[in-house]
Amino acid sequence: MTTTTTGGQACSAETIPKPRKIPFQFPEDLDPQWIPGEPELVAMLNGASLTMPYLEPFLIRTMRAAVDQLREGDLKEQGRAFNTQEQHHFQAHRRFNALLKRKRYPELEAIEEQMKASYARLSRRSLRVRMAYTAGFESMTLGVTKWLIEERVKLFAGADSRAVSFVLWHMVEETEHKRVAYDVYCALYKPSFMNGLARMLGVFHGSFDVMRFAMRGYRVILRKEGLWRSFRSRMRLAGWMWAFVSYVFPFLFRAALPGHNPRRERDPQWVTDWLEGYALADPDVPPLVDTHHPKMPVPFPTAAKASRLAS
Ligand SMILES: [Fe+2]
Ligand SMILES: [Fe+2]
Repeated sequence: MTTTTTGGQACSAETIPKPRKIPFQFPEDLDPQWIPGEPELVAMLNGASLTMPYLEPFLIRTMRAAVDQLREGDLKEQGRAFNTQEQHHFQAHRRFNALLKRKRYPELEAIEEQMKASYARLSRRSLRVRMAYTAGFESMTLGVTKWLIEERVKLFAGADSRAVSFVLWHMVEETEHKRVAYDVYCALYKPSFMNGLARMLGVFHGSFDVMRFAMRGYRVILRKEGLWRSFRSRMRLAGWMWAFVSYVFPFLFRAALPGHNPRRERDPQWVTDWLEGYALADPDVPPLVDTHHPKMPVPFPTAAKASRLAS
């Protein structure tokens, strides 16, 4: 096991994340408004999806440059597994986004051009800044995961399972590799005031940078739906934004503290059940969540049953 320390805190590599190339399908009958009656929430989630094929390749390039500087060992393996997971994520998001643009929102391409230019500029920054951005963004995903998993019934009841299941799979794997970027940062940048400060700034740099592009995405979508100037729509949007902020911001503040370690963040039980269930499932069959079920359990019969018996 590779072990490093930062701020007096152990950063040890544990299990290696397992990349899963799941054949999610996004056929033409999938409505870009995939949650009935919730156009503001869909706009937020579609806006976030739009960023992934630009953000995640940047994370991969950064991680690749970082692990090149590590000796062979568990942490290097973890970095490579992180990259393979992120690669599967952005490839699936790219297919999903292509459907959104083709069917309803070709205007989103302008934001994609902006992201392309922005990540090209960011790629010229130092590896420390890019790695802090990477680890910082990863801390935000844990808050998003908590929100989407814990509130899944409220958010996704009756929604198109193909989109919901794909989004939740992404969140499960974000949880699985939650400590990798942080550990790599710790391994490369030894404890010092400047390295700690850079990591703290990266939490807000990574998170707010992605949020601003996601917000441009939802604005375009809501304009197209004729809702951007509607007071009632703005109020509903504000409600969803508040839910997002109340889940995500505590994770950001904790991540920015000295001595932070993402492995202290507790994994949702649903995520653990999903991982255990998938290990026994047919990898050629996309695991589709039952969005009409009152508890929306993990999409694996044995794991769901075991979870029910245990609770
Ligand atoms: Fe990802
Ligand atoms: Fe990630």
